[in-house]
Amino acid sequence: MTFSKATSASVGYSKSVENRLKIQYLQQLTPKVASPPGSDVVKGLTDNPKYLSPRYFYDDRGSELFEEICELPEYYVTRTETSILQNCAEEIADITGACELIELGSGSSTKTRILLDAYHKLGYPLRYLPIDVSAGILEASARQLLVDYPTLQVHALAGTYEQALGQLQPSELPNRMIGFIGSTLGNLNPQKCDDFLSQITAALQLGEYFLLGVDLQKPQDILEAAYNDSAGVTAAFNLNVLNHLNRRFDGNFDVNKFEHWAFYNEIKHQIEMHLRSLEAQTVELRSLNLKVNFEKGETINTEISRKFDINDIQELLKNKGFVPQKVWTDDNQWFGLILSKLS
Ligand code: AVJ
Repeated sequence: MTFSKATSASVGYSKSVENRLKIQYLQQLTPKVASPPGSDVVKGLTDNPKYLSPRYFYDDRGSELFEEICELPEYYVTRTETSILQNCAEEIADITGACELIELGSGSSTKTRILLDAYHKLGYPLRYLPIDVSAGILEASARQLLVDYPTLQVHALAGTYEQALGQLQPSELPNRMIGFIGSTLGNLNPQKCDDFLSQITAALQLGEYFLLGVDLQKPQDILEAAYNDSAGVTAAFNLNVLNHLNRRFDGNFDVNKFEHWAFYNEIKHQIEMHLRSLEAQTVELRSLNLKVNFEKGETINTEISRKFDINDIQELLKNKGFVPQKVWTDDNQWFGLILSKLS
C-alpha cells in the first residue's frame, strides 16, 4: 500500500515535469554543404599561429569548471552581472511583459533565475528556451528549473547558436527576448561579432528585444588576476580543452606537456588565453587524420575575451537596427547590461 502510493506520487510528479519539458537536438541546417565535425579543429591547428574555438571549453567537465570559475574571488564577472540583474530584473520584466526568453549559452541558468523570479513576481507568463552546446548541463538544469518553477515551460535546444538562431519558431507569447548575458559576445573578434549581431537581428521580428551583457574595460591588473586565479581553476579549464579533443577525436595530447597562459592585450582590449607547449612534440588526432607538430614554447590561442566600451557597443547595436531602451551598470562600471528593441 505504502509502496504503491509512493510509486504513483513519484510518477505523477515526474510527469508534470515531463509535460513541461521539450528537448530538441539541433541538426545542421544544410548537412550537405556544412563542414564535417572537427574541420574547425583541423583548420585551427594547422594555421600559424594555432588556435581553437572557445566552444571546445564546454564539454560537461568544462562547463563544471566554468561554474567553479564564476565562484572565484578574482573572477568579478559573474558576481558583478548578477548584482546588476538583481537590481534591474523587474524593470526588464515590466518593459517586455509576457515573454518568450531565448537564452544563448544558458549553462546552468543560475543568473536566469533572477529573471524568472521577476517575471513570476509580476505575474507575466514566461516560456524559456535555453540554448547550449553542452547537452548534459542543458538537460540537468532544465529539469531543476521545472521542479523549482511549477508553471514554467522549458523548450531546451541542444546545439550551437548558429543552428538555434537559424531555426527559431515564431513566438507563442506576445513578446520575445533573446538573452545573451555573461559577456560571451567578448569571445568573438570584431568581424565575427558583427556577423553574430546580424544573425540576432535576422532571428527577431520588429519590436522584439535583445538583452546583452558585456564586460567593460578596466585596469589591467584586475583583468589579469581574473584569468590567472590563484586556485588554478582557470588553468584547469583551459587545459581541459585538450582532454575534450582527445575524447572527441581520438587524440593523444598529454595535458602535462602544456601550460596555461593568459594576459591582457591593451591594444585590442582583450584578454587572450593560450596553451603553451612545454617541449617540442607531435600530437595526433586519429579520427581527424591529423598530426600536429609543436615547437617548444609554441602556443594555441583558445580564447579571446574582449572588454567593451559601453558607448561603442551601443553604437554597434544601433547599426544593427536595435534601439537601446535602457543600460544598467554597477558602481565601478565594470559590467554593462543593455536592453534594446529591434526597430
Ligand atoms: C564565458 C566567455 C564570458 O571570457 O570571461 C572565464 C569565459 N574564460 N575564464 C570570459 C572564461 C576564462 C568567460 N566567458
